[in-house]
Amino acid sequence: MKQALSTLLLIVPFFMAPALAQDAPQGQPDPSHEAVLARGKVMTDMGKALRTLQLGLRQKDDIGSLLLAAELVNMNAELITNVFQTEAYEPGSEALPAIWQNWEDFSNKAEAALEQTAALVDAIDMEDLREANSLLRKVTADCAACHDVYRGESDR
Ligand code: HEC
Repeated sequence: MKQALSTLLLIVPFFMAPALAQDAPQGQPDPSHEAVLARGKVMTDMGKALRTLQLGLRQKDDIGSLLLAAELVNMNAELITNVFQTEAYEPGSEALPAIWQNWEDFSNKAEAALEQTAALVDAIDMEDLREANSLLRKVTADCAACHDVYRGESDR
């Protein structure tokens, strides 16, 4: 628990940075670069937590550990629309222009993923692991549904 809290405290100022950097004067950190870093971190953290959860469910880990992983997935899902606010590109980034051309659809996909991750947290909290496994598949499908449309090749 302690570990997770300190991780969260690190994440919070990190994802706030792009929004605060919008009006940064010359010589301040590049808001576009900050935005790319922030969304990369949210996605990477969400991916790691999801893998931890997948493995944990398979290994029948204790509810506390499963819940922690599910909450991390959920909290990062909550940040998706925030960290993608700034239209920014960088070599190595896989974000496609379609995100900002179809922001409403992108947000809807983020919202769908968020709702499923919240349901997943609830299922684990109720110790309904059968339901958790089924929701895990739905969450994974939600990740793919967005990646299929809005995540391209990194070497453009
Ligand atoms: C609403 C859209 C959307 C949803 C939902 C979504 N992603 Fe992503 N994801 C993206 C985009 C866009 C990128 C590319 C970002 C970039 O490279 O700048 C990405 C990139 C990633 C990356 C690569 C990060 C990196 O920088 O190497 C991982 C890992 C990832 N997503 C995991 C997930 C997982 C796991 C889920 C589901 C729990 C998920 N994503 C749900 C849009 C989404």
